[in-house]
Amino acid sequence: MNFTILTIFPEMFSALLVGGGIVKRAIEHQYISVETINIRDFAKDRHRVVDDRPYGGGCGMVMKPEPLAEAIRQAKKKYPEAYTLLLTPQGRIFNQSVAQKLAQCGGVIMVCGRYEGIDERVREHLVDDELSIGDYVLTGGELAAMVVIDTVSRLIPGTLGNEGSARDDSFSTGLLEYPQYTRPRSFEGANVPEVLLSGDHGAIREWRRQASLVRTILNRPDLLMEQPLTRDDIEFMKKLQQDIKTIIGKHSTAS
Ligand code: ADE
Repeated sequence: MNFTILTIFPEMFSALLVGGGIVKRAIEHQYISVETINIRDFAKDRHRVVDDRPYGGGCGMVMKPEPLAEAIRQAKKKYPEAYTLLLTPQGRIFNQSVAQKLAQCGGVIMVCGRYEGIDERVREHLVDDELSIGDYVLTGGELAAMVVIDTVSRLIPGTLGNEGSARDDSFSTGLLEYPQYTRPRSFEGANVPEVLLSGDHGAIREWRRQASLVRTILNRPDLLMEQPLTRDDIEFMKKLQQDIKTIIGKHSTAS
């Protein structure tokens, strides 16, 4: 899978190659490739200007259409099967299911907007989709593009080494991931739950599922609205509900 990034800050993407991370290894093993195109290289003037004032007035600058359009066309020519994305806070929210769809694509071209955004005509005619990584405004699309590369890369078969890791991820199961522990068994007075030391795989599976449910209820109850739940899940949640009612009941009679 190739990622081609259109940016005025190509040097930012060297961050993907720092340390011994999974993305770096995926590039080295050629599961993925990351190329950058500097939009400034397509500016026609001596000063390599890529922005201009907005028609209609207002503060900030807009990315000019001509250099950006040429840069996108060059990327599309090299990767005609690729899906072209614009990173922008106005886009659809990026999540694990969008990442899974992108992982099936024949390549991804990502346009990193800067300033107040890009000329609308380029967005309309040369971009397939717009993605946002969350409801906040970054100074440009570069960090968002790196988030997309990181997330999609680990879904490409082979990149993780252990395929189970991606399968059990938070969101892939529809629930948040259960708590993890490693040695020592006792750390600053806090012990690893006994069941995880029991060797009883059925009990461990059940404990993990229930721990995932509790985490999801507490942190992301919205996920449970769309998630198919098993009969055991419902039974467990009813029991929780009963326990909570009993506790509340005790306290309301006490006060
Ligand atoms: N560019 C600026 N903010 C962004 C965001 N939240 N997501 C994607 N691209 C952006």
